[in-house]
Amino acid sequence: MKLSFKQLLVLVLVAGLFSCKDQKSDSSESTGALERNLVVDLTDTGIQIQPTMYGIFFEDINFAADGGLYAEMIKNRSFEFTLPKTGWVEPNSDRHSYNNESGILSVIKYSEEGTNHNFARVEVKDDEGYVLINEGFRGMGVKEGAQYDFSVNAAKRSGDIQKIKLQVIDSLDNVLGETVVSPDSDSWKTYESTFTVNKSEMKAKVKITFQGEGEIDLDMISLFPQDTWKGRKKGLRKDLVQLLDDLNPGFLRFPGGCIVEGRTLARRYQWKKTVGDIEDREILVNRWNTEFAHRPTPDYYQSFGLGFFEYFQLSEDMGAEPLPILGCGIACQFNTGELVPMDELDPYVQDALDLIEFANGDTSTAWGQVRADMGHPEPFNMKYIGIGNEQWGPAYIERYKVFEKAIKSEYPEIIIVSGSGPFPEGDYFEYGWEQLKQMNAEIVDEHYYKPPEWFRENADRYDSYDRNGPKVFAGEYAAQTVAIASPENKNNWESALSEAAFMTGLERNAEVVHLTSYAPLMAHADGWQWTPDMIWFNNLESFGTPNYQVQKMYSTNPGTDLLKITEDGDKIIGKDGLYASTVKDSKTNELIIKIVNTSEQNQNLSIQVEGGSITDNVSVLTMGMDDLEAENSFEEPMKISPKEGTASVNGDVLEAEIPSMTFSIYKISM
Ligand code: AHR
Repeated sequence: MKLSFKQLLVLVLVAGLFSCKDQKSDSSESTGALERNLVVDLTDTGIQIQPTMYGIFFEDINFAADGGLYAEMIKNRSFEFTLPKTGWVEPNSDRHSYNNESGILSVIKYSEEGTNHNFARVEVKDDEGYVLINEGFRGMGVKEGAQYDFSVNAAKRSGDIQKIKLQVIDSLDNVLGETVVSPDSDSWKTYESTFTVNKSEMKAKVKITFQGEGEIDLDMISLFPQDTWKGRKKGLRKDLVQLLDDLNPGFLRFPGGCIVEGRTLARRYQWKKTVGDIEDREILVNRWNTEFAHRPTPDYYQSFGLGFFEYFQLSEDMGAEPLPILGCGIACQFNTGELVPMDELDPYVQDALDLIEFANGDTSTAWGQVRADMGHPEPFNMKYIGIGNEQWGPAYIERYKVFEKAIKSEYPEIIIVSGSGPFPEGDYFEYGWEQLKQMNAEIVDEHYYKPPEWFRENADRYDSYDRNGPKVFAGEYAAQTVAIASPENKNNWESALSEAAFMTGLERNAEVVHLTSYAPLMAHADGWQWTPDMIWFNNLESFGTPNYQVQKMYSTNPGTDLLKITEDGDKIIGKDGLYASTVKDSKTNELIIKIVNTSEQNQNLSIQVEGGSITDNVSVLTMGMDDLEAENSFEEPMKISPKEGTASVNGDVLEAEIPSMTFSIYKISM
């Protein structure tokens, strides 16, 4: 039989259609993809996603503040550490005989009073021979072509030291940039100078030499990059804040964590000591410095250059609600558990009241004026305050009640966050919740550091929570791949994927869960104490872990209204490794579906949208890896990160192919 060209073409097309069909079914057979039918109901609304749903937990742990977010490069700039020469090296001095040919550094105490107790006295015997080195925070990161601000407070005491030269040097003593200031007064005076660095270096140091001979006193020896977040002088490290800002955080919780409580009451965090002039902020040893014998960092102190004003300002910059947490008169119960007697609690309560005035009071108030003097006459509009971190037992409840009464009687509009202790179950947890419920507490903070499988198995945790009880702040959580705070824990894909699965449960319970945050937030690659952490950095670079990427996918797609997604009428919480939650964004009129597949099988989902119609304008973000051990790194910072994908819409059915071990977000215009 002879066929015309037209007949031939029809045959080829029909054959093609059949072969395509075969290929599709072949491929689904060969991958063993599960075929599932899901339903999204657009009419079942009424529960709002709180703007605070996805936020940030910041604590000065792992060098997150000094050596991290706070961009100061000189360690122990005012000689206030317990060993006051910590961070400073005199390479030419003979430490054993104390017989230094070229000069001597001694640290003088002004007095026990006040806040900036010490200064350094340098006696230069030999012009240009005496050298002081500052080692920075595990070195100093400098960038080619970037400008740096050097400043120092100095007072000439005797002789005539005419110049102080600051050089940035590498490990071979090569000079990468330098500047000079000329002291000209025997009274304290601040000298400043800016210079450019000609070569990038991750582990630079600062070398200071003197021209002339005599005695000179020095304090607040400081070096900052000019290129800080928002260009603020002596401000925050830009790349790190950018990573935080990219999260679109709903709130910023600060300053911790256990750091709030202190290992002893004397070493608790006191916000009033962290505001005002930088040089008057009294430094304090960081409670994480020797907390873990396996990761000691005895040179870890808090300069409070990043203090409460800066935290409020950062919250404002990022459009995040500020959420300060204050001590409640109990030192860390994992350490001393020292208690303030009930009849001595007043100053602690007053600190909370004064903080509200500092944040929100107008300039006619004493603390409002302090804020204004720091450059922010407008209030910060603080809405939340947390009382206590991981406290437990009757001692906490007793003290919490006093704070609550005082705060509510003066500031009824302030929402108080209380805590349920360090564990997500058990006696402390049960007792805390029961008591707080009876008191009609507004928001209860819960913490869970658990294995990845716990996160996968507990995506229904909040399904049974009382809808009329206190709201939940999932204030600290992170999957621990080995054990809680083990130095072997990894920020790997398994931990991140498990958190993503769990987070569908947070979102699905948005009626109860109002705030959530991963913890801890940041870690210096050479200065950490606790792992896993969401962001890792060294002196020059930073990257988000897969856990960061999961947080970011949620927090940049939060939606405004909760919807239901079901399979045969059931919630999707782990059957065959599938987890899902759905929201609507009423501002953009988009349907947002989050799907996590923790199984080894691909899953082909037909998602029927009921109660409204969808367009075929779909965007897909998918993040995944077959290798559950995979991690991001300085070398491959985006190895595990969301990639754009495709999906199709047939009428009101979204066809989504979900590969194994992935987290995907589908956004569909309605
Ligand atoms: O996130 C690290 C620590 O874990 C926090 O400081 C504390 O609240 C928790 O125990």
